[in-house]
Amino acid sequence: MSRPKVLVSRALPREALDALGRFAEVVESPKDEALTAEAFAAGAADCEGVLISVTNRVDGAFLARCPKLRVVSNIAVGYDNIDVAACTARSVLVTNTPGVLDGATADLTWALILAACRRVAEADDYVRAGEWGRSPNPFLGQEVNGATLGIIGLGRIGQAVARRASGFDMPVIYHQPERAAAAIEAACRAAYVTRDELLQRADIVTLHVAYGPPTHHYLGARELKLMKRTAVLVNASRGGVVDDAALVAALQDGVIGAAGIDVFENEPHLHAGFAALKNVVLTPHIGSATMATRAKMVGLAIANLIAALTGAAVPNPVNPEARTRRGDSS
Ligand code: GLV
Repeated sequence: MSRPKVLVSRALPREALDALGRFAEVVESPKDEALTAEAFAAGAADCEGVLISVTNRVDGAFLARCPKLRVVSNIAVGYDNIDVAACTARSVLVTNTPGVLDGATADLTWALILAACRRVAEADDYVRAGEWGRSPNPFLGQEVNGATLGIIGLGRIGQAVARRASGFDMPVIYHQPERAAAAIEAACRAAYVTRDELLQRADIVTLHVAYGPPTHHYLGARELKLMKRTAVLVNASRGGVVDDAALVAALQDGVIGAAGIDVFENEPHLHAGFAALKNVVLTPHIGSATMATRAKMVGLAIANLIAALTGAAVPNPVNPEARTRRGDSS
């Protein structure tokens, strides 16, 4: 029986490709850089599966060019790069990689909190430029220990961020549409408040929500104005949750104190003004980017893909109804 054909959109470790190669004919991406939309669609045209990252967009136009496609395996927990409804309509299963990246993403969130509050990137530039000893050393920052941490979205990653706060003796407040279970609140030592109360009370606000219509520009000019003038905003969730134009203006005008931002509205392009600001730490969407976590994500994404193509139970289906429509087992 011929093996199903699978496009792998990014360069992956050889052992991962070998594991996939035992079940599928693998079409490898030639370079470790995002494929253009055209190269992605052309490469996937006769494939039954694609193994992709968040830089690849799967929409109706892409699906129309891939009539044999049965599974889109995203190497990410978020899947706003995929039109899930369009996939379901064509009986294409979508899978993701939840759970394995919570710790790494929480760690990166803390790196941004600490770097933005203590002006680490700015101070690094100053030392490298040979300014130390030649000009005043102005790096007074915001105290982290004891500050009030406001978490928007107390899911798995938000909870991991909250647990780390106890080492910094920080009161934690959180907001999300539904209050969390009492056991979660207790484990996180987190108190539920309204969104506006959180924005007004927190010294540090960090976002851990998925992107979609309900969270588009969840923080814009109005919300930024509610925050303390010294407040620090951290976003390692998704671009578009924050209105980047409003954030740049708020950082320029001193509406808030500083920010640490890993995700942007039009990645990899920055909104004009970000790069010139000293009171923002910028990282290129690296929340899950440790060797160990990325290996787990790739392993899970491959397991999802193989299960989908072999009719086995799929560990992380996003739209399980797509398989039912096709008549595959679940
Ligand atoms: C990364 O951004 C992810 O969603 O896993």
